[in-house]
Amino acid sequence: MKIFIDTGNLNEIKEAAELGVLDGVTTNPSLIAKEGNVDFFTRLKEICALVPGPVSAEVVSTDKPGMLKEAAELRKIAPNITIKLPTIRTGLQACKVLADDGAKVNMTLCFQPLQALLVAKAGATFVSPFLGRLDDIGQDGMQLIRDIRKIYDNYGFKTQILAASIRSPLHLVEAALAGADVATVPFAVIQRMLDHPLTESGLKKFIEDWHKSHPGK
Ligand code: E4P
Repeated sequence: MKIFIDTGNLNEIKEAAELGVLDGVTTNPSLIAKEGNVDFFTRLKEICALVPGPVSAEVVSTDKPGMLKEAAELRKIAPNITIKLPTIRTGLQACKVLADDGAKVNMTLCFQPLQALLVAKAGATFVSPFLGRLDDIGQDGMQLIRDIRKIYDNYGFKTQILAASIRSPLHLVEAALAGADVATVPFAVIQRMLDHPLTESGLKKFIEDWHKSHPGK
């Protein structure tokens, strides 16, 4: 499973990259806005320089020509830019054009399996089902991943399932078990991925016992 970080924050990206297991980055307009007064293009250039893997940059136009115009500008930033488009009619049309032109496309805000079927047919590189936001309204976000996995496997679609809107380590475990190809994870969850109280207490005991049997060392 590939692990992306879901953030617009450079320090978080640097720290996650230091773990040596970071495969890419996703951003969205809300995450960039959280960074304050940063220039969108400058920030994306900085992120692309830090991480060689795919960096998703989202358009804000909702019409096809507007999306394509924004995508053309974004693609100039770096070769690892992935164009993030909303899963709406015009987004699907723009996805087809961009995919045919060799661009990587991440179709975002996917909430039901038929959206995932259509974006795969349009040549999307990634589809982003939003788990947490479905859970927030009392639906089973993980079932969406399972359904998309089944549909993609039935027909051999190559579009990668990018589990998004991850809120907890448990989401990540379940998305991995459900066969998501990628998970985009907030920094706070990445930090907790290695934690277990038995690892901490076990290590403490090993070190204490070592010092008991090697006094003074
Ligand atoms: C994915 O690309 C989105 O940026 C993200 O996962 C949204 O998560 P949220 O529902 O926590 O805002």
